[in-house]
Amino acid sequence: MIIIQAKDYDEMSRKAALFIAGQVLLKPTSVLGLATGSTPVGTYKELIRFHKEDGVCFQQVRSVNLDEYYGLPASHEQSYRHFMQVNLFDHIDILPGNTHVPDGLTRDPQAYGKEYDEMIASLGGIDLQLLGIGSNGHIAFNEPGRYFTAPTRLVDLNKNTIGDNARFFESEDEVPRQAISMGMKSILGAKRILILASSANKAEAVRDMLEGPIDPMVPASILQLHPNVTLVADYAALSLIS
Ligand code: GLP
Repeated sequence: MIIIQAKDYDEMSRKAALFIAGQVLLKPTSVLGLATGSTPVGTYKELIRFHKEDGVCFQQVRSVNLDEYYGLPASHEQSYRHFMQVNLFDHIDILPGNTHVPDGLTRDPQAYGKEYDEMIASLGGIDLQLLGIGSNGHIAFNEPGRYFTAPTRLVDLNKNTIGDNARFFESEDEVPRQAISMGMKSILGAKRILILASSANKAEAVRDMLEGPIDPMVPASILQLHPNVTLVADYAALSLIS
């Protein structure tokens, strides 16, 4: 894993955006795997700037998102579809039909998960997957557990994640308890992975991902097996690395 250090969140965001813009310039038809959460917001802002000021073009890009809260319609303010529209898609020239975010209202999550993975495969797989990391080491909504799970599927969110994400909702009670999450197969199938981490509350997860054993209790540790992963992290998130 290549580690790129940044002094703070803004520098992490600029470096991550350069990485993604480079991917799109080198391959304008890239399939980008995209993430939500607070971490990539600054990266998306920089990408919008690259589009507006430097003409980086997303017209041929296809995107697939990692996850969506189960039970939230796309129109809900806290849905990940809404997040992507507001933080990125509405400000660049990506074609709406080329963006894919899991459907949080699907009635048959099992069949839907299979279709979502097949859709990714039909695009030729993911060229660059952007990831954040949960404070418990989760990636997408693949929570710590007894095994790594391959397919896109319905997952139960754990208490830690519900607590972490409560800041986006009026109260913890309103945080959905389930989500549709891309599984490890499609994530690890990406040709390149860019994972971001910022702030001290990610330091333990970053250390365990990089230096711990490959353990489903730390879902991000499976990235040790991928041949092309770059971590861009600020000093605070890297503070426990030996
Ligand atoms: C969320 C998302 C993840 C994200 C993580 C960290 O629950 N499902 O994709 O990487 O938690 O979020 P944040 O960047 O807000 O810390």
